[in-house]
Amino acid sequence: MTTVDASPAPGAALRFPTGFRWGTATAAYQIEGAAALDGRTPSIWDTFSRTPGKVLGGDTGDTATDHYHRMAEDVGLMSRLGVSDYRFSVAWPRVQPTGRGPAAQRGLDFYRRLVDALLEAGIRPVATLYHWDLPQELEDLGGWPHRDTAERFAEYAGLVAEALGDRVAGWTTLNEPWCAAFLGYASGVHAPGRTEPAAALRAAHHLNLAHGLGVRALRAALPRSAEVSLTLNLHAVRPLTDSAADLDAARRIDAVGNRIFLDPVFRGRLAPDLVRDTAALTDWSFVRDGDLAAASEPLDWLGVNYYSPTVVAAVEPAASDGEREPSPWPGAEEHVRFLPAPGPRTEMDWPVDPDGLYELLARLRDELPGVPLVITENGAAYADRVGPDGAVHDPERIAYLRGHLEAVHRAISDGADVRGYFVWSLLDNFEWSFGYSKRFGLVHVDFATRLRTPKDSAHWYADVIARGGLAL
Ligand code: FCB
Repeated sequence: MTTVDASPAPGAALRFPTGFRWGTATAAYQIEGAAALDGRTPSIWDTFSRTPGKVLGGDTGDTATDHYHRMAEDVGLMSRLGVSDYRFSVAWPRVQPTGRGPAAQRGLDFYRRLVDALLEAGIRPVATLYHWDLPQELEDLGGWPHRDTAERFAEYAGLVAEALGDRVAGWTTLNEPWCAAFLGYASGVHAPGRTEPAAALRAAHHLNLAHGLGVRALRAALPRSAEVSLTLNLHAVRPLTDSAADLDAARRIDAVGNRIFLDPVFRGRLAPDLVRDTAALTDWSFVRDGDLAAASEPLDWLGVNYYSPTVVAAVEPAASDGEREPSPWPGAEEHVRFLPAPGPRTEMDWPVDPDGLYELLARLRDELPGVPLVITENGAAYADRVGPDGAVHDPERIAYLRGHLEAVHRAISDGADVRGYFVWSLLDNFEWSFGYSKRFGLVHVDFATRLRTPKDSAHWYADVIARGGLAL
């Protein structure tokens, strides 16, 4: 790991380790706009957002925050925050429009300019290769349930590494493959909106394979100093009681929510209980020899995205007969019910519960010794407004971030090897099926004028970074 000197100013009460990385995160489709510029072709999210009823208000990412044209301003905003790192994603349909063949240089040029601007500002670029914007042409051929998509991803990863490898030190293959597989192909609330549980399990496997083949393509093209990672949205699952039935409900969610990725990637195997739980849907014969060896290529760190915990209890399958909503939990949905966690909630209606982050980090410390961790997303949506004083007062977001940083600090003190923390998000942006209705940014964006206004939380975060920790 490269270290950044983050010597704290005097007075920091909770000091983070020297070299701890402080960042912000975004994703291409959520901020870039310029959907049809410089050769970019539609992704599954362009198609999905144009499908009536899929995204609130019929919003699309056509213009988003217009980051494509305001990139220099946005790097300036980060410069003022004082971040050491910036996590962004590369739009596959911008750099390899049909999902195969040579790179589109005009698309790559945008990322070359971005990376140059970041380095000029002293900010370390951390590039994610896939944050859900699959080229539509690849979905038309079958999407992630189709094995070839994994091969296509590895080819694309190699193209981006060739173009940016001399200047980008941190790489992440996939963002949250759980969402890509299960919200995309099982519950259908994300693109491409399919509701096929068995296909979703195939998608999950092909995402693991894509990750592994992608790691190989990256290592082949990148200098040895480059760091390669994967980002998972691990579920902090809590059983309602410690009854055997509730513990088993939690086990099922852990299998199809967490170990479906952790086992292939870190142990080179399929979780045996996951295979049992899903036996009525698939025999997993799409897993071929060598796939799990590929999926388990060594990583330099694991990215963890965390927002809130998941509380579950057992339910008798018979009690839940009848028409069901498509579920993102194949093999578990008939046995599990989800309960609201107590406590305050964000505008997403997600509970605010920093202990869930601590629990997750403590678990990873115990289960994956030797694997450094980076919080690649954490943050909260609130109904922020620019006030008459021209400022955006968002005390709830400050409290949320502070509470979660305290949890990270506690985990580090208890031996978790956490190397960095990225706030989701730099900017208010296109929040997937919620369109522009949910604001996660440290910086407010007026979606009529695209005017940026740093919120109080941005000033607060700049202070945290400057002192290398939290003031009392
Ligand atoms: C995560 C996504 C990110 C953003 C946050 C709120 O699941 O990775 O793009 O939407 O949730």
